[in-house]
Amino acid sequence: MLELANVTVRFGGLTAVQDVSLAVGSDQVVGLVGPNGAGKTTLFNVISGLVRPAPGSRVLFDGKDITRRPLHQRARLGLGRSFQIPQPMHELTVRENLIVAQRFGAGRVDPRKIDRILELMDLTGQAERDAANGLALQELKRLEVAKALATEPKLLLLDEVLAGLETLAKRMFMDKLRELHETLGLGILIIEHDIETISSLCHRVVVLDFGQLIADGTPGEVFSNPDVIRSYTGADHA
Ligand SMILES: Nc1ncnc2c1ncn2[C@@H]1O[C@H](COP(=O)(O)OP(=O)(O)O)[C@@H](O)[C@H]1O
Ligand SMILES: [Mg+2]
Repeated sequence: MLELANVTVRFGGLTAVQDVSLAVGSDQVVGLVGPNGAGKTTLFNVISGLVRPAPGSRVLFDGKDITRRPLHQRARLGLGRSFQIPQPMHELTVRENLIVAQRFGAGRVDPRKIDRILELMDLTGQAERDAANGLALQELKRLEVAKALATEPKLLLLDEVLAGLETLAKRMFMDKLRELHETLGLGILIIEHDIETISSLCHRVVVLDFGQLIADGTPGEVFSNPDVIRSYTGADHA
């Protein structure tokens, strides 16, 4: 279980995240939505340890206070993430990328698990290709999730992995995420703009707007909330 308590992030004079408190169970699939610049990626960066929040902010995972813990320790406790812009390691193959991720997140290499992840993410045929130059967008996105899986997470943070995919590819990717949740028992916190996608994938949705959490509930509740509709139609962001 991930718990954020009063998380605030300031970049100079800009408050990117403001006093966000939120709990996400490792058995849930939760959507994190909000307009561009709302602070979603910054919140992921706080959770994974890339951005240090303001004093008074607290991040807990499985009851441990990880607010000041380095990245690899968070990964070893079971927090995995993908990046909004896929970042395969240059001059490494797909398989080697997964090995590096596994070593970082699990502290050892288990080739059989790597094979299983390649299979699960339909990347077996691409395993020996150059990850930075040899892959199509869909495959890059599947690699991004595969890398997060290789760290052996309990909770997976996915930053817009579905964005930019065609309808059919998106549907197949969503089925895959459902499968990860159901067969591996993985919790998922996913950033995604498309309301239809979020509604069909998530049990619960939380909404950030100008760094603040403005709604938390089922997709039906949240997307009929007037504040959320206003935020989504961009009336406040013109
Ligand atoms: N490293 C940074 N330095 C300064 N400002 C940043 C940094 N990262 C993000 N921001 C700003 O913080 C706000 C939230 O950004 P971000 O978390 O990327 O939003 P989202 O992912 O919801 O689109 C934006 O105004 C963005 O420009
Ligand atoms: Mg973002």
